[in-house]
Amino acid sequence: MNRQQLDGLREAFGEALQEDVSLGPYTSIRIGGPADVLLEVRSIEELRRACVELWKREIDFRVLGGGSNVLISDAGIRGVVVLNKAREVWFHEDDRGSRVRAGSGAMLGSVARRSAERGLGGLEWAATIPGTVGGAVVGNAGAHGGCMADSLIVAEILQHGDGVESWTADELNYAYRSSRLKTDPGRGVVLSASLKLARSAVETCKRKVQEFAASRERTQPSGASMGSMFKNPTGDYAGRLIDTAGLKGKRFGAAVISEKHGNFFINEGGGTAADMKALIDLARERVAEVHGVQLELEVELVGDWSTAG
Ligand code: EPU
Repeated sequence: MNRQQLDGLREAFGEALQEDVSLGPYTSIRIGGPADVLLEVRSIEELRRACVELWKREIDFRVLGGGSNVLISDAGIRGVVVLNKAREVWFHEDDRGSRVRAGSGAMLGSVARRSAERGLGGLEWAATIPGTVGGAVVGNAGAHGGCMADSLIVAEILQHGDGVESWTADELNYAYRSSRLKTDPGRGVVLSASLKLARSAVETCKRKVQEFAASRERTQPSGASMGSMFKNPTGDYAGRLIDTAGLKGKRFGAAVISEKHGNFFINEGGGTAADMKALIDLARERVAEVHGVQLELEVELVGDWSTAG
């Protein structure tokens, strides 16, 4: 981004724009170097306007939601990061059934819990998922037997330029933790999503949420992490493979493989992206040696990694 482009952005966005902002605090792992520019949007309309302006000015950007599935390099991100706080939520019930439409910056877990409190079931699986609706749409987030592919009715996708298209789960080409938007990020930006719900008893919905939360607490660590680091390979579990390769407790600096669950990598405080990356590489190498399996990252490596060791 050149000076003229930056001046233009300052003029267009005023106080919503901050420069040279450390991204660690915007991620669940609390790691990440600076963004040249951070642009905060607080509604679906602000998100749309920001993307359209940036495309028009030919300035590179990436949308950051809950920062729960990304490892941002220590060097940070050149260009603009759009911090998505488009958190509108609308519940609809009519003769076609029940659904919730949420801005892509709404936290998925919060949408799921609010639905349960109204006696609207079907999204309980998502109540403990960190991250935003937009991130979940892109990554086909899932837990406890549910996933976005099963819950999504339609997502509104802003197209390069300014058109908005409605994509169904089929059109998103969903696969395990993947979608057309994940494999081809240039396809568009998620503005909102409508998710299926079903009328149920409030107590039933809340009990399911509590059971899933208890199961998560039992099996997953509470420290700063990115959730599951690797996808489960077909027919096996990344956590089991890492565990039985003897990798639990391995560390570089403050980055450590959880003793509770092998597929969770924790930042104990002050960890760097380079340390985390070294741990990822170690886990991949050892699991390949011991089990002959190539683990595939579930989290996305983001930013400038050219200076990383
Ligand atoms: N296991 C071990 N050692 C470990 C960890 C797990 O042997 O250190 C074994 C467990 O005993 C179990 C199996 O591996 O037999 C699977 O473990 P778990 O039930 O904890 O589920 P997971 O496959 O590791 C998946 C999702 C999670 C989701 C949970 C609960 C993936 C990669 N992970 O975990 O999603 O919360 O199921 O539904 O699909 C995420 O995607 O970020 C995430 C947290």
